[in-house]
Amino acid sequence: MPQSPIRKLVPFAEEATKNGKTIYYLNIGQPDIKTPQIALDAVKVHSLEVLAYTRSEGSEEYRKKIANYYSNKDIDVNHEDIIVTTGGSEALLFAFGSIMDVDDEIIIPEPFYANYNGFSTSSGIQVVPVISKIEDNFALPAIEEFEKLITPKTKAILICNPGNPTGYLYSKEEIKKLAAIVKKHDLFLIADEVYREFTYDGNTHYSIMQEEGLEEHAIMIDSVSKRYSMCGARIGCLVSKNKAVIQTALKFAQARLSPPTLAQIASEAALNTPQSYFDDVIEEYVERRNILIEELQKIEGVQVATPKGAFYCIAQLPVKNSDAFAQWLLENFDVDGETVMVAPAGGFYSTPGVGLNQIRIAYVLKKESLIKAVHIIKEALKVYKD
Ligand SMILES: Cc1ncc(COP(=O)(O)O)c(C=O)c1O
Repeated sequence: MPQSPIRKLVPFAEEATKNGKTIYYLNIGQPDIKTPQIALDAVKVHSLEVLAYTRSEGSEEYRKKIANYYSNKDIDVNHEDIIVTTGGSEALLFAFGSIMDVDDEIIIPEPFYANYNGFSTSSGIQVVPVISKIEDNFALPAIEEFEKLITPKTKAILICNPGNPTGYLYSKEEIKKLAAIVKKHDLFLIADEVYREFTYDGNTHYSIMQEEGLEEHAIMIDSVSKRYSMCGARIGCLVSKNKAVIQTALKFAQARLSPPTLAQIASEAALNTPQSYFDDVIEEYVERRNILIEELQKIEGVQVATPKGAFYCIAQLPVKNSDAFAQWLLENFDVDGETVMVAPAGGFYSTPGVGLNQIRIAYVLKKESLIKAVHIIKEALKVYKD
């Protein structure tokens, strides 16, 4: 199993904290945004006498409400198309296990969410990367690039929309191109849409579940973690109109018995979160993104692609090895007792040697902290020697 590039530097951060340093955590997508109060209250006031298992596919009441949430997003599914999972993480594992055998291949535009590597390894499948470039703002590579990679072992294409770590938001046209290719080659299209709400600059999200004619091919991954700042709830879901996929994923769900019961109660209540909550959150993220990108662009030798969604960006630094740089920041550098923790981007690629001069930054901190954090990176780059 590969280490998580997001978490592997934690021991160095702990050591730095022990030594009295303050750390700005830009490495992990743990938002500082408050969880909606109605979700927290629902857990406090429930009248359960036994904290029992729920159905393996999740409580029917909750799934019906999720289906209703989707219909408000112009996604037409019913509760039987949904399996509630322990986070989007488990939904990804169920999807991989349900549609692929050992040694099958999945094509993923890279850089991609690092744990796709881990989930693929644990499912015994091979990631076949198609490279998207910082110079192109991480746009979808040409469709011919995908077609070149399709072999008899290819079972699926996986996209993350909006993207972690790039913040890339796929256009309707791009989804249509992917839909055409998966139909032509009879593949699945898995879309990780856990950041659906987080789109900026007037851009709207187009789900693979909105694409007509893709019903048998589309598998959507979702989660409450980021949407409601409920990462610790561990609730997500797998959604597909393909009955065989749902029946197979249900077997995986049965093997692990049930998704968390209390967290389903919280997640069900969270569905009543008013739109104003998202408006405020999105306004906050846009401001953070703008400040972050503006400050990073001021640093000589730093290249950054402007994210159109989610809350991450990839920055290319004038260093050879961002792993070493990130560790050095924690071990050997500070500005007035403060330093930063970033995620080296190499782990977000599966092609060896690519992305070694890049880092991923999660803009999940307040604006003032982001400004300070980028200042620290700027000062660090002045003295750092590879
Ligand atoms: C793109 C993406 N997919 C899935 C997940 C998994 O999230 P969870 O298991 O908390 O739902 C994450 C978490 O950061 C993510 O960024």
